[in-house]
Amino acid sequence: MEKNILQFLLNDKLIEIDFLKEDFLPSTTVLNYLRMQPGFMGTKEGCAEGDCGACTVVLAEVQNGELTYKTIDSCLLFLASIHGKQLITVEHLAEINDQKIKLHPVQQAMVEHHGSQCGYCTPGFVMSMFGMYKNAAETDNEELTDAMAGNLCRCTGYKPIAEAAQACCKNPKPDKFSLQQVEIVKRLTQIRKHQSTLEISAPKQIYLLPSRLDEALGFREKYPVAVTINGATDTAIRQNKTHEFLPNILDLSAVEDIKHQKEGSAFFSLGAGTTLEQFKQFVKANFPGLMPMLKVFASLQIRNVATIGGNLSTASPIGDLIPLFFALKAEVKLSSRTDNRMIPVEEYITGYRKTSLRHDEILEAVQIPKPEKGLVFFTEKVSTRRDLDISTVSSTLRLRLNTDNFVEEIAIIYGGMAAQVKRAVAAEKYLLGKQWCFEEAERASKLICEDFTPISDARSNAEYRVAAAKNLLLKLYLKSVDNNEGLSL
Ligand SMILES: Cc1cc2nc3c(=O)[nH]c(=O)nc-3n(C[C@H](O)[C@H](O)[C@H](O)COP(=O)(O)OP(=O)(O)OC[C@H]3O[C@@H](n4cnc5c(N)ncnc54)[C@H](O)[C@@H]3O)c2cc1C
Ligand code: FES
Ligand code: FES
Repeated sequence: MEKNILQFLLNDKLIEIDFLKEDFLPSTTVLNYLRMQPGFMGTKEGCAEGDCGACTVVLAEVQNGELTYKTIDSCLLFLASIHGKQLITVEHLAEINDQKIKLHPVQQAMVEHHGSQCGYCTPGFVMSMFGMYKNAAETDNEELTDAMAGNLCRCTGYKPIAEAAQACCKNPKPDKFSLQQVEIVKRLTQIRKHQSTLEISAPKQIYLLPSRLDEALGFREKYPVAVTINGATDTAIRQNKTHEFLPNILDLSAVEDIKHQKEGSAFFSLGAGTTLEQFKQFVKANFPGLMPMLKVFASLQIRNVATIGGNLSTASPIGDLIPLFFALKAEVKLSSRTDNRMIPVEEYITGYRKTSLRHDEILEAVQIPKPEKGLVFFTEKVSTRRDLDISTVSSTLRLRLNTDNFVEEIAIIYGGMAAQVKRAVAAEKYLLGKQWCFEEAERASKLICEDFTPISDARSNAEYRVAAAKNLLLKLYLKSVDNNEGLSL
């Protein structure tokens, strides 16, 4: 079976790419690919790093026999990863019959509410609104705002755009995409049936897109130097901004076996390919006290593809999920062709952007123990701006009190205070067995200086980081006594 040919639908047209005959790479971004095609200039480049949303497109894929629609930043999307999907661009929204153009309802709403001025951001906003329109059954006011947080506009002041979104996304009617759904499902299923796995050997790049875990592990063994990616939201920045060339890529984004979210009697098991958007829903249902971190995690365009496995494996000192998984006492399942092993997340992260992953392994899943009764979790993040910004400092608390309000179990975890995410051991030791009250929390906060000597960098200086870390502990204390949203299960 031919494994070198990439196939996808660009709007309603089947595209087949043989990389042996092209001068672009499998890891060329979808944005750059589109802008090489005549008539596809609607998708804009603003930042090329996921911050502005000008490049937003919608990807439709078949799940359980139906199409799901996701907004995605095309500047961070590798072309080969869209195999077997429908790439919908702004050019395709309107209906054109007998030379007459009928705008899509989201475009019409933008016109009626004066949502466009210079127009540079407009295609990106239109595509975000189109994504919401197609998912509108689950959309409330908060979600509408959230879905637009990944798009920047410097002209309109946002109000007219927000009004346009409110007007069209609340009660969406069937559109031309609804009518074409059955046909598109058939065509995409056909592509996948014919060829679900890609092993592309282009002249300058090997790009592997397995669809099953055993294939992925086989590729991992055969190409030990390949860079593993999933959402590529971190890796694409290396290519776009530092112009790093990635000669061998193992892309796990099509591996169904690592996308599960299962609940057992003692554990939750989440596949490493669980997207941040799916993880957000999981946290909302099971650990509401951890929601503040997910509410300000990147943008919907990023969360739709970024994965928990990718976030953990960056081992970044400001990776926002790492403190959460420390607090939850999560373990990772690391798998190779020959064996697999479970280790605590605290042992997976071994240093600044270092993990204990072997070259023949991938991170397959994350296992979270169901917490005992009485455990509470809270988290807070400080960043330069609220939306779409990575942490300056973050803090997460795991806490259990006895019936007399004394601390029976505690973990206080900080991001942004050291070369890797780290627990505040001195503060924890001080608080264990103490009464849980403001005075004791304040005394413990003074021990943060014993636990950490943070650095000054472009994001913040060391003094600010220490002050923020102390205040975060007090804030987490206040949250724990003010409300019960952190209660587990
Ligand atoms: C605009 C923007 C905003 C962001 N905001 C935030 C934020 O608020 N908080 C935050 O923490 N991060 C943020 N990020 C960083 C990034 O989006 C996340 O860390 C994301 O979760 C990475 O996941 P991914 O699947 O896209 O990773 P990828 O880029 O695919 O991979 C990242 C790393 O993990 C490895 N990897 C991926 N999957 C596996 C696997 N299954 N097994 C082994 N190794 C694997 C890769 O080799 C690579 O080293 C942001 C990024 C952007 C561009
Ligand atoms: S160009 Fe700015 S998010 Fe893609
Ligand atoms: S209309 Fe000019 S940037 Fe939004």
